[in-house]
Amino acid sequence: MKVFSEIEQITSAIEAFKVQHLTIGLVPTMGALHQGHLALVKNAMANNDIVIVSVFVNPTQFDKEEDLKKYPRTLDNDVLLLESISKDMIIFAPPVKAIYKGNTVSQIFDFDGLEFEMEGRFRHGHFDGVGTIVKKLFEIVKPDNAYFGEKDFQQLQIIKKLVSKYHIPVHVVGCKIHRESSGLAMSSRNTRLSVTQKDEVPFIYKTLKTAKKHFGTKSANQITKWVTKQFENNPLLKLEYFIIADVDSLKELKRKSKNKKYRAFIAVYAGEIRLIDNIALN
Ligand code: PAF
Repeated sequence: MKVFSEIEQITSAIEAFKVQHLTIGLVPTMGALHQGHLALVKNAMANNDIVIVSVFVNPTQFDKEEDLKKYPRTLDNDVLLLESISKDMIIFAPPVKAIYKGNTVSQIFDFDGLEFEMEGRFRHGHFDGVGTIVKKLFEIVKPDNAYFGEKDFQQLQIIKKLVSKYHIPVHVVGCKIHRESSGLAMSSRNTRLSVTQKDEVPFIYKTLKTAKKHFGTKSANQITKWVTKQFENNPLLKLEYFIIADVDSLKELKRKSKNKKYRAFIAVYAGEIRLIDNIALN
């Protein structure tokens, strides 16, 4: 296992791989790794000669200073967890100054409106931050393939847009959501949940599954009202949004069309911890 923190180290390793025509799979992460990340890494390992996992808590994608401060930083554990599946990979964990060179600001992007839906309404500037770091990582690592989880489905669509708009030669691979046995979507934030909250949050996926059941017979509006009611009756969870949207435009569904794909997207607060999830509906 090699852990690089300097751009020069990773750049020279990558130059050597490129000379040998080895394919590179990148798994960008913010650390605090869990089984969901490991599934991305395994997917990358199965399809590339070299796997690079970046661990970087990206300051520009946090809209709340408090959230950035509280974000778990567990590099030693992350290395151990990755080693438990293979020692044959590179971890790239640069400091903020190596990436932002003293200018910790986002590039401003136009993602054709994808950035203004759902998360974009509640986390201002978030996707500019994500676009900035992912573009920088792609420029440094020059991966053939890059792996992202569908839990952040909007992020996945935005990264696909980034790659197509900037003609970045990377194949973006979306990987299905990894869930705990309770159904809760795996997330680094889950470690911050109290025991009581942990018992309560599987309600989120349970509600999504019922919404999916209703999708064949009820309108998006009826389902949204039903979901809103479920959360009004739950004192431990606060619904921020529930939206049924077209997977390509991410625009809220008004009238179903047979040849379109839809997903239900949800954001919920358990205390001060914000959780998101989504489910394919058809
Ligand atoms: O999904 C994440 O963990 C982050 O948004 C990403 C893609 C690593 C960029 O910082």
